[in-house]
Amino acid sequence: MKTYAHIIGWGMAVPKRVLTNREISRMVDTTEEWIVSRTGIRERRIAGPQDTTASLGLEAARKAIEVADISPGEIDLIIVATSTPEHLFPATACMIQDALGARKAGAFDLLAACTGFIYALSLASQAITSGAMNTVLVIGSETMSRIVNWEDRGTCILFGDGAGAFVLRGSEQRGGVLASLLRSDGSGADLLSVPAGGSRKPTSIETLRDNLHTVQMNGPEVFRFATTVMVDACRKVVADAGLRMSEIDRIVPHQANERIVAAAARGLKLPVDRFVLNLERYGNTSTASIPIALCEAVAAGTIKPNTNIVFVAFGGGLTWGAALVRWDVTMPAAPSSWRRLQRRAFYGISRVRSALRRGARTVEGFIFGKLSAEGEEPPHTGKS
Ligand code: COA
Repeated sequence: MKTYAHIIGWGMAVPKRVLTNREISRMVDTTEEWIVSRTGIRERRIAGPQDTTASLGLEAARKAIEVADISPGEIDLIIVATSTPEHLFPATACMIQDALGARKAGAFDLLAACTGFIYALSLASQAITSGAMNTVLVIGSETMSRIVNWEDRGTCILFGDGAGAFVLRGSEQRGGVLASLLRSDGSGADLLSVPAGGSRKPTSIETLRDNLHTVQMNGPEVFRFATTVMVDACRKVVADAGLRMSEIDRIVPHQANERIVAAAARGLKLPVDRFVLNLERYGNTSTASIPIALCEAVAAGTIKPNTNIVFVAFGGGLTWGAALVRWDVTMPAAPSSWRRLQRRAFYGISRVRSALRRGARTVEGFIFGKLSAEGEEPPHTGKS
């Protein structure tokens, strides 16, 4: 019997702080009108000092878990797609795993720039359909405001912060992720990048002086690339699922620029209102943009059960991809307050368990340190 990967939970989180075009026009040489007419963006959310990629991702994940009405202990794998991780390593996914208390989950970050969520969704779905996993949490989370050059009018107008998450689970009922497509072209790596801070150009006085730790972009080239690949990826994923474009009810595109979406709609000969758009209020939140748009569309009732949806994205790398999902979920009934209470208690206990583990490691380290200083062998732990 074939297993299908169904999306059974979804959630989003955005910071409270709204940054309007008017405010940006006081920071760089631009106008509200220019930004709206060239991008469609009116405002975006910006992380406060306490917000991080992990904290936003965690909030979105908890909401998705509520909708799915599962226990974090049932999660087999957590994938966080992000271009703005908490650290170079360890993975942001591990911070979220710990905070959720998802004790049997593997956890890793995935970097495919703004296409990351599609990559993560595709891998999660394949892990489930192969039978290797049953429940996978996929998160797209970003604090783009931390890597944007706030003096560059070509990029700082575009990006925003936020997170979205899906819970996927295997079922023998046909539906869920029916096809996906992942592509890349590294020859365009320089078109959209953060050049320094990795192993190629480690942080130095020079990289800081030249602002190489912020987003650098060739806007018109990325625009051209995006319009072509969106159309090709949509066509291919629809054909791979054995469907026709006329059978697609909604397209949830990466929310980068309204003009890119309009060009894709023209290329696909579809009305633009077939596309879910909310970039007006959030800007480009990179890996978070698709799940945020999906969450809002579901909440607004504009995504109906038993419809075909295409998710499509593009980004740095260059990368692009698409996934075709049969949205067979009805809005779940609100979980009972008892289940909600159980989950809250679970998060509290997980926090305590994590703190105890950290404490135990400190004590162990202290004892072993003392023994070594006194020339005694530390007890054999069985690990080589
Ligand atoms: N305000 C006012 N003028 C601006 C401006 C701003 N914020 N940003 C650029 N300009 C100016 C340029 O300096 C240029 O002036 P010039 O003609 O005197 O040289 C003019 O506007 C046109 O610049 P250009 O870059 O060709 O504009 P554009 O119409 O391509 O729009 C983007 C710029 C960035 C909005 C557009 O290229 C784009 O959206 N590209 C894709 C970016 C993207 O989606 N990136 C993320 C991918 S995941």
